[in-house]
Amino acid sequence: MYAKAPGRVNIIGEHVDYNDGFILPFAIDKATKVFVSKSGQNQHRITSMGFGTKTFEQNQLSKTGDWTDYIKGTIYYLTTLYNLHIPPLDIEVESNIPIGAGLSSSAAIEVASIMAISHHVGLTLDKEDIYKFAQKIENEFVGVKCGIMDQFVSVMGKEGEAVFLDTMTMEYQYVPINLTHSKFYILDSSVHHSLGDGAYNERRSQCESALKKMNKKSFREISLDEFNRQKDLLNEVEFKRSRHVLTENQRVLACRKALEEGNDGKVGELLNQSHVSLRDDYECSCREIDFLVEELNKMPQVHGARIMGGGFGGSIIFLAETHFNSKKIEPLNIEYNKRYQTEFKFYEVDPSKGACVFD
Ligand code: GLA
Repeated sequence: MYAKAPGRVNIIGEHVDYNDGFILPFAIDKATKVFVSKSGQNQHRITSMGFGTKTFEQNQLSKTGDWTDYIKGTIYYLTTLYNLHIPPLDIEVESNIPIGAGLSSSAAIEVASIMAISHHVGLTLDKEDIYKFAQKIENEFVGVKCGIMDQFVSVMGKEGEAVFLDTMTMEYQYVPINLTHSKFYILDSSVHHSLGDGAYNERRSQCESALKKMNKKSFREISLDEFNRQKDLLNEVEFKRSRHVLTENQRVLACRKALEEGNDGKVGELLNQSHVSLRDDYECSCREIDFLVEELNKMPQVHGARIMGGGFGGSIIFLAETHFNSKKIEPLNIEYNKRYQTEFKFYEVDPSKGACVFD
């Protein structure tokens, strides 16, 4: 028996999932499988192709700072929150989601572990339980203060569609991607700036302090006009962070409409605007990504591009004509390598269905 959970991309709505904002991600056709069976030993045993085998006792469920934490976190909470007795398990992990590319390989392993192990011990969880459980592992066991986007879409994804989510109300709606002549592609810049985690948390607290100064509980309580009138209350950084959140929400709504109407030019334009806002107002891009976004936009087949995910490196999502392929960007990779001594990786991504269990 195994569970399979996909990675994700986000079309638009970046750094707003922890700010009560709107997001528009889709699950991709790359996934992690977690196989579970009863172990003949008295320890849990986890094996992953490429990462070897680790064993641990039921009473050794503390964080070790490696990939096994997602599985330990699952067993830990199933034991402590659901009061379940988990017998020694043999767990095998298999994945084709590139690690570190910002395609949410960690959300995928969390979701697949929860689904496979809970199914194995006969616990029924609904979809909402699963993505919240997965976020809890990431926030509290692993210690990364992410929003709900990655876990949500790994569970809720649908073939051929993106998911529009209002992270304040958790109401969602599937959005068909009606683009006949273009599709989304990913460039993994291979750059990972070490300031990433600290800067993510710093952005979160800058947004919180902006809200406090404006005496608001949520960015949804304030219009862009009202915000512009109140800007003297904020320091420059808080002003810029808040402006990103407010304008990004508007772009997500506009993008949902453009996708439904099949307007690829408009979607591309919104991606570019989002990039500028993430670069200048949220200040979470980097020179390598800015270079690639600019160069991609010089290509006639490309409609628009932006940095995707947590930022400070990672991946770019871009919209280009359907016949775009890796050959078209080879010259850019050569130029990129000359400038930054590294190469990007190119992926095609198709909207795919969310996680499920296979008996
Ligand atoms: C990371 C987090 C998400 C989200 C993005 C930024 O991917 O895991 O919850 O905050 O960054 O949009």
